[in-house]
Amino acid sequence: MDRFVIIGGKPLHGTVRISGAKNATLPIMTAALLTPGKTVLHNVPQLRDIHTMAKLLEILGVRWEMVDHQLTLHTEEVTKQEAPYQLVKTMRASVYVLGPLLARFGQAKVSLPGGCAWGPRPVDLHLKGIKALGANVILEEGYIIATASKLHGAKIVFEISSVGATGNVLMAAVLAKGTTVIENAACEPDIEALANFLVKMGAKIDGIGTSKLEIEGVDSLSPTEDTMIPDRIEAGTFLVACGMAGGDIQLESVQPRHLEMVIEKSREAGMTVEATGSILRLKSDGRPKPVSIKTAPYPGFPTDMQAQWMAWMCLAKGDSLITDTIFRDRFTHVAELLRLGASISMEANTAMVHGQEKLLGAPVMSTDLRASACLVLAGLAAQGRTVVSRVYHIDRGYERIEEKLQGLGAEIWREEDVPIQ
Ligand code: EPU
Repeated sequence: MDRFVIIGGKPLHGTVRISGAKNATLPIMTAALLTPGKTVLHNVPQLRDIHTMAKLLEILGVRWEMVDHQLTLHTEEVTKQEAPYQLVKTMRASVYVLGPLLARFGQAKVSLPGGCAWGPRPVDLHLKGIKALGANVILEEGYIIATASKLHGAKIVFEISSVGATGNVLMAAVLAKGTTVIENAACEPDIEALANFLVKMGAKIDGIGTSKLEIEGVDSLSPTEDTMIPDRIEAGTFLVACGMAGGDIQLESVQPRHLEMVIEKSREAGMTVEATGSILRLKSDGRPKPVSIKTAPYPGFPTDMQAQWMAWMCLAKGDSLITDTIFRDRFTHVAELLRLGASISMEANTAMVHGQEKLLGAPVMSTDLRASACLVLAGLAAQGRTVVSRVYHIDRGYERIEEKLQGLGAEIWREEDVPIQ
């Protein structure tokens, strides 16, 4: 297992290129299953989760090759419709094969993903959606078994906005007979990107980017080629890195409109943020003003930026409240931030952060992807040496984060974690 060693206190300068979005690429990869042929995806991030998804598609019979950031998928010989527990348990996004397999083959068997590091992650809305489209769904030995001779259009109203359920139902509905309407659909840029990709394949979808999607089923789709959108969470993470370490950096290949809430809050915290085309110019010096946030579905403040924001607010000149309304238990980073000298107390799904003048380096442990990012950011600002262990979590969703930070002047390196005998 690898760990990062960080010597804090170095301001950041220079330019960093933001990679393609993990959470848009994962469902788009599974959308390729909808039709036989060759799909070519550009700007695909080199991440562990992307390789896990490629591995899962390979088990189903997909041939694939990844050259630099171009992923080619050949879906002519999909011979299996089963996503096994061994893979699904390592990556919940595997459940995205459910909709496309059901739509193309009339059957899918997908392991239930179970919970994750910070609590339960149900899939009831995914099942409700495909049942409404006419699928017969049973749960057996930890697996979802879905069958349908032909899916049909339906009106589906989600009581909670869910990225995954919207994506799965959308992929199932594009080949269904008739019209499907999804209300309270997730509007996240990842879903917008998926819908645009499906349209390129020949799907008929209205309302893309809004909370009401109308899908007119088509008889067949064609494989296509597409470029992945920039990762707004990676961009947001570098933005907070600059806020915490101080300095003057430029993020290239960003979609600023996807980051509006994070940018607005960063300006409130005292950072200078200038957006020009696909470039974000960031300047920061000194401690931030305290800015409270409450996570919400897009375009609200993203839950995937909650942990990083909390790290920043640990250094604010005052107190702030950080509330997660999407994943109410997503706070495993709190105990680790306390090890770095932060002052945080919890009440239900709200963290009360009492800003400190400084953080002090210490050994800490990654518990999940965004918690790991938060600890790396805290390490960049902390005095002395911080060691973040179990960084395999961060490799799931950040491409070469330590190299990108080194390029900005941070003192961070990767080494093998040698356990105490
Ligand atoms: N929910 C249900 N039932 C369902 C599905 C979701 O109750 O069937 C609830 C969840 O418990 C949660 C809310 O709905 O309270 C929203 O969850 P959502 O379904 O939107 O999350 P997801 O699709 O499982 C994706 C991202 C997550 C990100 C969330 C929220 C991918 C692969 N994952 O998860 O990303 O936090 O949306 O934006 O797209 C990450 O990248 O670190 C990550 C966890």
